Amino acid sequence: MAPTHNVPTHDVIVLGAGAAGLFCAGLAGQRGKRVALLDHADAPGKKILISGGGRCNFTNLYTAPDRYLSENPHFARSALSRYTPADFIALVERYGIAWHEKTLGQLFCDGSAKQIVAMLVEECAAGGVNLRLGAQVGGVEHADGLFRVQFGSETLIAPALVIATGGPAIPKLGATGFAYDLARKFGLKVVQPRPALVPLTLSGEEALFRELSGVSAEVVAHCGKAAFREAALFTHRGLSGPAILQVSSYWRHGGCVEIDFLPDQPQDWLLAAKRERPRLALAKALGAALPERLAVRLAEHVGIEGELGQTQDKALRGAETQLRRWRFAPSGSEGFAKAEVTAGGISTAGLSSRTMGAQAVPGLYAVGEAVDVTGWLGGYNFQWAWASAYAAAVAI
Ligand code: FDA
Repeated sequence: MAPTHNVPTHDVIVLGAGAAGLFCAGLAGQRGKRVALLDHADAPGKKILISGGGRCNFTNLYTAPDRYLSENPHFARSALSRYTPADFIALVERYGIAWHEKTLGQLFCDGSAKQIVAMLVEECAAGGVNLRLGAQVGGVEHADGLFRVQFGSETLIAPALVIATGGPAIPKLGATGFAYDLARKFGLKVVQPRPALVPLTLSGEEALFRELSGVSAEVVAHCGKAAFREAALFTHRGLSGPAILQVSSYWRHGGCVEIDFLPDQPQDWLLAAKRERPRLALAKALGAALPERLAVRLAEHVGIEGELGQTQDKALRGAETQLRRWRFAPSGSEGFAKAEVTAGGISTAGLSSRTMGAQAVPGLYAVGEAVDVTGWLGGYNFQWAWASAYAAAVAI
């Protein structure tokens, strides 16, 4: 039946059938709401399917507000405390999905990310959600307390609208900046979006690293006050690997990144090596702590060629300091095409941290990556998607 202009077709329209939209729609439906869930893609949850190397790192046991970046670092606290990793694990277990902790609290499916998408779609079915895919969301209007959304040739009408269309990271998966345009239309501010969890690129001066393409090493990467001990991977264009992806979220153009190549070695390690094995060359000494190609290149770069026993203590101390505090200025990042998430987004200043509702527009909500809350690598972003979606779903 064609809708009449002022008669709601649904209680809530959710835009975006990704992690946050699917979860929010399913919950709201199961709470008795008539929900429409709309996406321009031809299938739901495409990012979930490729996440975690196809096994979906669906949460992190160490979820805490200080593992999220936002202009308001306290904003995520409320939602994260009301829907926790344990809550999502309980849901996953209810569906009989086997999982394991890989490292650092990161939980993955034993089988496939497809199981998480199937679970979320089933949750939507249990809530009677009207899931509509493969058409463009056209105009979105708001008048008399109702939102009117053009979807293909249809008009859907509801007193509540949830923006869950994510951010522009990986456009080839259907990611867009639609959430920001819509938010601005409703008077919400947008914190400048930027690629995050993204490989960093290097200019000519740091050619040292490019020669090492394919080599990886356990390091501590620092950017400002943030520090991550994980693997760094040298690439043709610069640096990647978990330690670099993590610091990339904190890095700003023109800023520096610092790497400690000797996280496991005690202070004055090279002096001790000189005493114990004076005939050793620096490259060989470094080879005990680092992959050989990297050890050779770093030794050349700090300019110590002779045996440790013939090198002055002062020079060895200087070399060690350089290896512990290798500072460089990335020329850029690999951009939204390679970013795992978008930092920035719809400003939390106009949103309620309890409900994710827009303070100035009753009935309007924003959840997931569209919002200026960005998690660390390792399941934190999905946990934000679930928690923010839950906050909205119980408030609608
Ligand atoms: P999401 O991007 O999932 O969904 C948005 C939906 O909106 C999409 O379905 C899209 O088609 C739709 N949409 C966009 N524009 C639209 C428009 N104009 N009209 C209609 N629909 C529109 N996180 C994590 O915690 N663990 C992990 O293992 C990984 N792994 C990972 C790997 C890769 C390669 C990427 C790119 C990302 C990850 N992430 C991750 C991040 C995680 O995928 C991301 O944070 C969540 O998917 C965000 O969920 P949302 O629902 O907010 O957006």
